[in-house]
Amino acid sequence: MIQITFVSNNGKTATAPPNSNLLRVSLREQGGIPFKCGGGLCGTCKCHIDSGLEHTDEVKAKERKLLTEQELASGHRLACQTFVNGDISVSWQPRAAAAAVSRPAPVPANADAVAGDGTKETPKESESSAR
Ligand code: FES
Repeated sequence: MIQITFVSNNGKTATAPPNSNLLRVSLREQGGIPFKCGGGLCGTCKCHIDSGLEHTDEVKAKERKLLTEQELASGHRLACQTFVNGDISVSWQPRAAAAAVSRPAPVPANADAVAGDGTKETPKESESSAR
């Protein structure tokens, strides 16, 4: 078994069989790496291999599309595209910090009142009306 340390999740550790997909281990063990597509398309799972980069497999073409050469050289990977065959430590930018950049105001305590005023986006309604 190998050990993965999720540095940005208070250093939580998990074990997994060799050649495990990093995002799958994170999901199974609640490691906390953010994700959306799981298929190398969105870049949400961008993370940094703090230690053990030599225990990760080769960089995929999808990673080269979403990460710069500089990021790759400094140890960044897409967790959903990375397989691990030895102990590593991984960190990432927490979603709260990323959201703070694009969303200046925090969610108000009475979030229900905001959701009920009809201004919130409702993608499910538009999806169902298209069918
Ligand atoms: S989750 Fe979208 S690129 Fe990894």
